[in-house]
Amino acid sequence: MSVKILGTGSFLPESVVTNDFLSTIMDTSDEWISSRTGIKARHLVKKETTTQMSVEAAKNALLDAGIQAAELDLIIVGTITGDDITPSTACEVQAAIGAKAAVAFDINAACSGFMFAMHSAYAYLQSGIYQNALIIGAETLSRIMDWNDRSTCVLFGDGAGAAVLGAGQGGILGFEQGSDGVKGSVLACRARANSNPLVQENPETDYVHMDGQEVYKFAVTTVPASIERVLEKAQVGTEEIKYFLLHQANIRIIQSVAKRLHAPMEKFPISLDHCGNISAASIPILLDEVNKKGMLEEGDKIVMSGFGGGLTWGTCILEW
Ligand code: COA
Repeated sequence: MSVKILGTGSFLPESVVTNDFLSTIMDTSDEWISSRTGIKARHLVKKETTTQMSVEAAKNALLDAGIQAAELDLIIVGTITGDDITPSTACEVQAAIGAKAAVAFDINAACSGFMFAMHSAYAYLQSGIYQNALIIGAETLSRIMDWNDRSTCVLFGDGAGAAVLGAGQGGILGFEQGSDGVKGSVLACRARANSNPLVQENPETDYVHMDGQEVYKFAVTTVPASIERVLEKAQVGTEEIKYFLLHQANIRIIQSVAKRLHAPMEKFPISLDHCGNISAASIPILLDEVNKKGMLEEGDKIVMSGFGGGLTWGTCILEW
């Protein structure tokens, strides 16, 4: 059976925060942020939650796919910023949309979260265990940023994107996932303190810490190599790919990947200029933008590649 994307959806919080606004509340500038990252603005939550954004993105994707929530067997949410530790965001989405028959769980793979959710759903669908899956990438990253650390907080945003997967022609042609836990500390957000009275030393509740240059080096070496392996395995040439939908972390990373692949930048759609980096939500939001703009036709081949905390990465080639 071929596993295909049947529909996409997304949701961005109402509040748009520009670089110029950030420069009024911290020592930064539009020039610094946009020249180093390509980011001009991001959406940040005021009232919206990770679950609410996931539900809106999910409803849009179901509508686009022409699938009822009751027909879903599986819901997987990639997130590192669920509203609650338990229930999972996926279970909260299941309840909100009335997908009574679905099995629901979250995946923590940071910015690769949507790709990991997609690969997991693909394995379930391909093996015939389930028929229809809803996969979501959703983040409220503004909650885990240190708003006194200008080198990280200006990079990230909030939002959610979703896709419905099911049987169809073409579909997923190849996949790769990878992890390198040894380098995990270059992009980390440590957990809350333990109030167990037996625990003497306790780290403080933490925010995101990043060694930007190490993350940059990881991305510009790992991502093109992963894409090349996936293309080679699927026996598809770079020139056959209509679009490369990369995790939206930084325009310079995307330019570097394009150069390595000898592919023009026109093949790399961008949402980071108005969204910033939304971790697991970046790729599905971009996919939804590309889909809703009518940029994809049946039979087009696209590549999606996510990378980030863990460290983790995941790449997929599919026929639309
Ligand atoms: N505004 C103004 N100045 C800032 C700033 C900001 N928002 N953030 C940092 N700076 C300053 C630093 O303090 C430093 O000043 P100094 O030279 O006086 O010490 C200077 O800018 C340069 O900082 P540096 O970290 O060397 O910049 P850089 O060229 O490496 O760019 C990143 C920083 C974060 C943009 C870049 O490393 C990057 O994109 N890394 C990848 C990050 C990423 O994509 N993460 C997510 C992956 S999922």
